[in-house]
Amino acid sequence: MRIGIIGKGHVGTALSTGLTKAGHEVKFGHRDPKEPVKAAASWGEVIILAVPYSEARNAAAAIGAAADGKPLIDVMNPLAQGGLAVGFTTSAGEETQRLLPKARVVKAFNTVFAVNMPTGSLGAERLTAFIAGDDKAAKETVMRLASDIGFDPLDCGPLRSARYLEPMTALIIHLAFEQGKGTGLGFKMLTA
Ligand SMILES: NC(=O)c1ccc[n+]([C@@H]2O[C@H](COP(=O)([O-])OP(=O)(O)OC[C@H]3O[C@@H](n4cnc5c(N)ncnc54)[C@H](OP(=O)(O)O)[C@@H]3O)[C@@H](O)[C@H]2O)c1
Repeated sequence: MRIGIIGKGHVGTALSTGLTKAGHEVKFGHRDPKEPVKAAASWGEVIILAVPYSEARNAAAAIGAAADGKPLIDVMNPLAQGGLAVGFTTSAGEETQRLLPKARVVKAFNTVFAVNMPTGSLGAERLTAFIAGDDKAAKETVMRLASDIGFDPLDCGPLRSARYLEPMTALIIHLAFEQGKGTGLGFKMLTA
């Protein structure tokens, strides 16, 4: 598939590595005029939004109608001093859907450290890709992409489940950086 990745930082480049290895094509968009957001978003059949949450509104304005009808993967964590900027009654995923009402927003990959995104695994273990969205077909597309990278995808229901997925990241950041365990950590769902 053609994937337009908005944001060329840790997450954008890590997902690009995983997706191109799996045979997908990637084009970046960021604030560099040589790689405009609109061009990447228009070209992509799927869009990944991987910018800081504080820049979501600006990035969404630059994407505009280019996202209409397309699966748009929201990877953002609404990190704020001492916790999360939104939660309980909304989530970054739902706010992204409000910013781009005609996009088919799917929350995914936000619980994974960028360093683990190119393979979707830690050693021999596949990490779980927790995936939430209201549009069934868009969610299935994202689950396939996650599986192509090497993740074990898990359908977490509607987009409002992003309210649960975003705090998971606050926990893993705490473990990695405050408890000093580092980024060789990831979530795996076990089922009996
Ligand atoms: N790092 C992780 O391990 C990790 C894991 C899961 C989720 N996340 C989430 O993923 C998102 C990206 O994180 P990151 O670590 O990749 O950040 P990062 O390394 O700082 O990269 C952010 C990218 O966004 C671009 N950008 C900033 N404002 C923009 C705008 N208005 N329009 C277009 N591009 C813009 C920046 O490029 P220019 O300055 O060139 O525009 C940069 O390439 C964040 O929301 C974060 O919470 C991060």
